[in-house]
Amino acid sequence: MELLQVVFGVAMGAVVYQMLSKWNEIWYRITKRSLPLPPGTMGWPLIGESLYLLKRGPDYITARRRRFGDMFKTHLFGGPIVVSTDSDVNKYILTSESKGILPGYPRSFSEMFGKWSSSNLYGSEHKAMRSAFISLMNAPALKERLLPKIDEFMQSYISNWSDKTLDFQKKSNEVVMLLVLKLVASIEENIALTKELEEVMDQVYLSFFTPAINLPGTTYNKGLKARRKLVQMIGKFMKERRASKCNRDHNDILDSLLKYSEDSNSVIQTDEQIIDQMIGFVLSGYETTSTVLMLAIKYLHDHPHAQDELRKENLEIRKGKPEDYTINWDDYKSMSFTRAVVLETLRMSALGLGLLRRTTADTEIKGYIIPKGWTIFVCTMETIKDPDTYPEPLMFNPWRWPKSNLESHQYFMLFGGGARLCPGKELGILEVSMFLHYLVTRYR
Ligand code: HEM
Repeated sequence: MELLQVVFGVAMGAVVYQMLSKWNEIWYRITKRSLPLPPGTMGWPLIGESLYLLKRGPDYITARRRRFGDMFKTHLFGGPIVVSTDSDVNKYILTSESKGILPGYPRSFSEMFGKWSSSNLYGSEHKAMRSAFISLMNAPALKERLLPKIDEFMQSYISNWSDKTLDFQKKSNEVVMLLVLKLVASIEENIALTKELEEVMDQVYLSFFTPAINLPGTTYNKGLKARRKLVQMIGKFMKERRASKCNRDHNDILDSLLKYSEDSNSVIQTDEQIIDQMIGFVLSGYETTSTVLMLAIKYLHDHPHAQDELRKENLEIRKGKPEDYTINWDDYKSMSFTRAVVLETLRMSALGLGLLRRTTADTEIKGYIIPKGWTIFVCTMETIKDPDTYPEPLMFNPWRWPKSNLESHQYFMLFGGGARLCPGKELGILEVSMFLHYLVTRYR
């Protein structure tokens, strides 16, 4: 009798397990019966396949791609999602904002950036705010204002490094944070402030993809507190700048934003808008650039040939010039191998697995329907490892860039694409290039 009970219990357990593991599948088949959804499995109720993704990381996507093809549905972090690893589809999605495919980042992510940040605006408002942001770092701004500041900073920062053993992970974060402070508010090498800001920013980054549950102790709650701290800090810089007598002589991002706000035709009018733009600048530009910079050092360390070629190119620029010669725009434009090292590092790092979008109506792509409100994961990680475009994709090979003109390749997506193409692309590349320039020409 007891044995029968055990057998019955095990059988029931197996049935419940099967039912739960198919629950989402059945639910979406019933509710979206008439729609030709992409293939794929939806996993468990609520959690879907999140645990598989967390356990296997990028391998989860590779395995699902192998099983279901370049477009598959799944259920991750509380909602249905379609993953695309197809370069054409990815390009179409990134350029279809006007067709209602909008950024699909979680609420916590949006809140950290703030209401007026480019990534939270759509349509004409996005266009206007984005062009104001771009004017802060377009080619003339880079050439005339930002490059001289970056050069001055790098020369001084790296000047006493020779013959020292350094922790490059720490240095990568420090150098980018110090530079951000200089470009944004002309704050000169202030290590204490840098440390404070790094801690605040780490907390904000941690809460980007956590559930937006605002209860004491949750990561989201800590993130909101950290953001408030960031707002206070930037508010203080603004107050000091407005109170200072020579308040328009700094030629930095804060000066430009204050000037915009005084022009009644400008899209930037309020302090809240200025602060959100500054937060957008700091949050978007800090972690991305410092990660590329740190990985570039690692790849160059592991590939002495590339290091030699990089040094050769950069020493050539300084040949016959005084020790304190400052790099100009033409010099920077001639640094083609240095640029290739930055882009190859970015490709290898697959910084972020991809980008998130959401549908605002049932959307047909490649014969499948992606229902209204679903998230789309534009998986760029798989496309930047495509062996047809990047032969031997797992090899660090900077030479491939200038040779094949890959930057103008139709599937170049390292900085996103379409209406949301990264406005800080050239600034990010410039910062890392200038760091590498002084590293290989000054550091032994
Ligand atoms: C190597 C460094 C960088 C990488 C790899 C990078 C990558 C990206 C990518 C992939 C996007 C598109 C996001 C999407 O479509 O959802 C993006 C957007 C953006 N990036 Fe960057 N970025 C870098 C540096 C910077 C810097 C230095 C800044 C500014 C100082 C910046 C500011 C922005 C902003 C404001 C957006 C949002 C644009 C919009 O929504 O219109 N980025 N970035």
